[in-house]
Amino acid sequence: MRDALIEAQSLSRIYRHGESEIVALVSASFVLNRGDRIALVGRSGSGKTTLLHLMAALDKPTSGVIDWPALGSPDTLLPAKISLVFQTPSLLEPLTVNENVALPLLMADAADSGDGAGSVERAVAAALATFGLEALAQKLPEELSGGQMQRVAMARAVVGRPLVILADEPTGQLDQAAAQALLDALIAHLAGTPTALVIATHDSAVAMRMDAVWRIERGMLADAETAARRT
Ligand SMILES: Nc1ncnc2c1ncn2[C@@H]1O[C@H](COP(=O)(O)OP(=O)(O)O)[C@@H](O)[C@H]1O
Ligand SMILES: [Mg+2]
Repeated sequence: MRDALIEAQSLSRIYRHGESEIVALVSASFVLNRGDRIALVGRSGSGKTTLLHLMAALDKPTSGVIDWPALGSPDTLLPAKISLVFQTPSLLEPLTVNENVALPLLMADAADSGDGAGSVERAVAAALATFGLEALAQKLPEELSGGQMQRVAMARAVVGRPLVILADEPTGQLDQAAAQALLDALIAHLAGTPTALVIATHDSAVAMRMDAVWRIERGMLADAETAARRT
């Protein structure tokens, strides 16, 4: 079984609007392996979100090659194999917390036979419990604080047991203690699983909890290649 979940070679992304060009990512090469715990660290505007969206096949590179050796075709990745926690609020407003967290499972059910409502309920309850959200199950997103929404988005990211979790500044709305509690819960939840985790952050306390740091500065990704070679 190959360990590489995502491999990229010389990935670049240039945004073009009319005459203007913004070079968001410059020739990034990396390997994400099973079980990796990576902090993607860089200041605002350095290209973190761009890179995560390319990794999730939500966006296409301007040049370079990206491949998902163990995961299959790019249009089958989200949300079952890769889950992406967006930087901006992404809960569906008309749905309760429970229903939002169930979404990836319901989408997977629609795609294949699935294993029924009972198991969806159990998985959702377990994901909510992991992040201490049981009491919020019947609430609507508009009734939640920013930090609570981030925890619900994280519960939704883990519920389908994806092989890759890409979390874009998932603790941005949380204070230090709540951020550490969320990381504790996430790390404990993933312990012993092959799921790879990439967290984009500019918080060094968050970065310290991961096993490796990929630094990105003005679209240039450092460390990822050397880290990949070492493993
Ligand atoms: N859709 C877009 N169109 C034009 N420029 C963009 C777009 N998305 C991001 N950018 C620009 O690309 C650069 C990297 O952005 P981003 O990946 O969001 O960085 P980060 O997540 O590290 O803050 C920034 O200069 C940003 O303004
Ligand atoms: Mg960003």
